[in-house]
Amino acid sequence: MKLRKILGIDIGGSGVKGAIVDTKKGELLTERFRIPTPQPATPEAVARVLKQITIHFDWKGPVGAGFPGVIQQGVARTAANVDNSWIDKDLNKLFSKATGCKVHVVNDADAAGMAEVKFGAGNGEMGTLLLVTVGTGLGTVIFSNGKLVPNLEMGHILLHGADAELYATDAARKKNELDWDTWAGRFNEYLLRMEELVWPDRIIIGGGASKKGDKFFHHLTTKAPVVPAKLMNEAGIVGAAMVSKYYNKLES
Ligand code: BGC
Repeated sequence: MKLRKILGIDIGGSGVKGAIVDTKKGELLTERFRIPTPQPATPEAVARVLKQITIHFDWKGPVGAGFPGVIQQGVARTAANVDNSWIDKDLNKLFSKATGCKVHVVNDADAAGMAEVKFGAGNGEMGTLLLVTVGTGLGTVIFSNGKLVPNLEMGHILLHGADAELYATDAARKKNELDWDTWAGRFNEYLLRMEELVWPDRIIIGGGASKKGDKFFHHLTTKAPVVPAKLMNEAGIVGAAMVSKYYNKLES
């Protein structure tokens, strides 16, 4: 099987985005195609969206998809910002059946991290790297000397006695109509707490908010340098394709 071109899909709380990826260069070969996440975001409804995306690209080859929850061997274990009916569903099976393509699913933040470490702001970095994706949820990824520990769920640590996600995501900024300075103060608190727990050498900020770095980076006071993700919000698509390539090689 040729594995250079793979369809990468990023399943998010507000949109499902796909593009054909050149996995060798870490680049999109097509425009991103985006379909709003169906509400309620049930597994069956999202599977139909994945089918639409494969039809849009007239795609029959391998597919990698990033999902906003813990994924173990293709099975969803949590669903913080999507419907609870995802829990314990075998998504590799569900999506492969719906699309007629071979689909591998991985946690969305892990996918973004893989792409940033290979092609972006983490390339060549040794030591401890913390990547935080800021969007509907807070995705967290740690690489130690280039090695990933999957499914780290540190977006849900407690801050002021509640889930940090409710306090410091981009969704919380919008929902509570916070100005950027106020939100940046909250996000900085979150990063300082993470720094106390993880002691990263470098912090990368990805996800939707990474495009708006000029609005909040100057408020961040961690000891570790904070840099924006280079692949911005393409990282999830590129990383999902990379993970699919990895599994296809493993299984062949
Ligand atoms: C989920 C994570 C996910 C993150 C970013 C969190 O709510 O628990 O699994 O990576 O959102 O989408």
